[in-house]
Amino acid sequence: MNVLILGSGGREHAFAHSISQSSLLSHLYVAPGNAGTAQIATNLDLGVTDFEAIKNFVLENNITMVVVGPEAPLVAGIYDYFKNDDQLNHINVIGPSKNAAMLEGSKEFAKEFMLRNQVPTAAYQSFTAATLSDGKQFIDSLKAPYVLKADGLAGGKGVLIIQNADEAKAALVEMLLGGKFGAASNKVVIEEFLDGIEMSVFVMTDGDSYKIMPTAKDYKRIGEGDTGLNTGGMGAVSPVPFADASLMEKIEQQVVIPTINGLQSEQLEYKGFVFIGLMIVNNEPLVIEYNVRMGDPETEVVLPRISSDLLSHLHAFAKAELHKEQFKIDPRSATTVMCVAGGYPEAYDKGMEIHGLDQVDDSIVFHAGTKETAGKVVTNGGRVMAITSYGDDFKQALKKSYENISKLSFDRIYYRTDIGFDL
Ligand code: AMP
Ligand code: GLY
Repeated sequence: MNVLILGSGGREHAFAHSISQSSLLSHLYVAPGNAGTAQIATNLDLGVTDFEAIKNFVLENNITMVVVGPEAPLVAGIYDYFKNDDQLNHINVIGPSKNAAMLEGSKEFAKEFMLRNQVPTAAYQSFTAATLSDGKQFIDSLKAPYVLKADGLAGGKGVLIIQNADEAKAALVEMLLGGKFGAASNKVVIEEFLDGIEMSVFVMTDGDSYKIMPTAKDYKRIGEGDTGLNTGGMGAVSPVPFADASLMEKIEQQVVIPTINGLQSEQLEYKGFVFIGLMIVNNEPLVIEYNVRMGDPETEVVLPRISSDLLSHLHAFAKAELHKEQFKIDPRSATTVMCVAGGYPEAYDKGMEIHGLDQVDDSIVFHAGTKETAGKVVTNGGRVMAITSYGDDFKQALKKSYENISKLSFDRIYYRTDIGFDL
């Protein structure tokens, strides 16, 4: 079968890496891809939200599956675009419908969904410019710190955690009236601060049954010890060492099953990945967010631990036969460390040549912001590449990632040396 992956990050390279190992695959395309996907697939110069161009390509090249990496095309309705087109509706789009993608597209929608379906989460209220003074009162009714979330998509930057009530009120004004996050903060969710430890679970669903994939924990801050600005993610570990069988049982019963049942009972069509961000408080899971796609860099540790045929599992979505698939999970740990361009997540340069890629031994380099020009691989984004390794435990795996990173270089390379420090 011919498969098209949409996206250009480490996540999409990891998808391409797993799918390219399947005997079911004929040809693999990635749009737009990067220098890493170019080695195992054909990159296409197509925008991920240019549905018409995607349609033309898919029809001309007999594509039967589209795997959607990032959230933007999902929130823009790519699933429905295919479903409602007579020429495209036989194609297996891996992702949720536009309505279901609101679980990521609107924090308020996600919170209301959780309440309706008894999914444990932090207490909250949401406010608009018209209810600003109620919002200020609500802040006064809570204990510090205060958690303010832009309702809409804000590229992972829309959550503020503020220690002081007056500063929280000022931030609320800036979000609602000052356009701090553009239209995304026309509505703001204010919620109770949860003091615990974070982890993520990834669930695959064909709309009928589900499979829980390996757990992961990512490191979002740019600085060591989880300090500094938020990034897309600086590294990840799978499995999460503290997620033992009893915690996983609670997560499945209290979070995963009510979520999947809620999707079905509310007729939110969903054939894709549910990424559930959790805070574990006193050994109880509470949901802090849903994403309607895989995480990046979590995918770079989750997929390498699925040793059964990923393409076969995804192919089963078309007939809602995921329950028949046999999953094999690699018992080893996997870790990934993201190498980024100096300056990221603020301004950074592109076009620096990457050296040492051929020296890497016993790790997988998942390319993110890279491209090939004139036979050279150069940087083409803030997050440049994720170095994934296996080990008997996460410390052993990390050691390998760091050994290999020491052989890699580009001008102003930066990475965190403390991934997993809190485990
Ligand atoms: P989100 O974009 O919803 O994942 O939020 C970004 C980060 O803010 C999360 O990864 C958490 O570290 C933190 N966060 C979000 N909601 C809460 C909360 N209610 N209590 C504590 N931390 C939170
Ligand atoms: N690493 C977090 C995310 O993909 O949203």
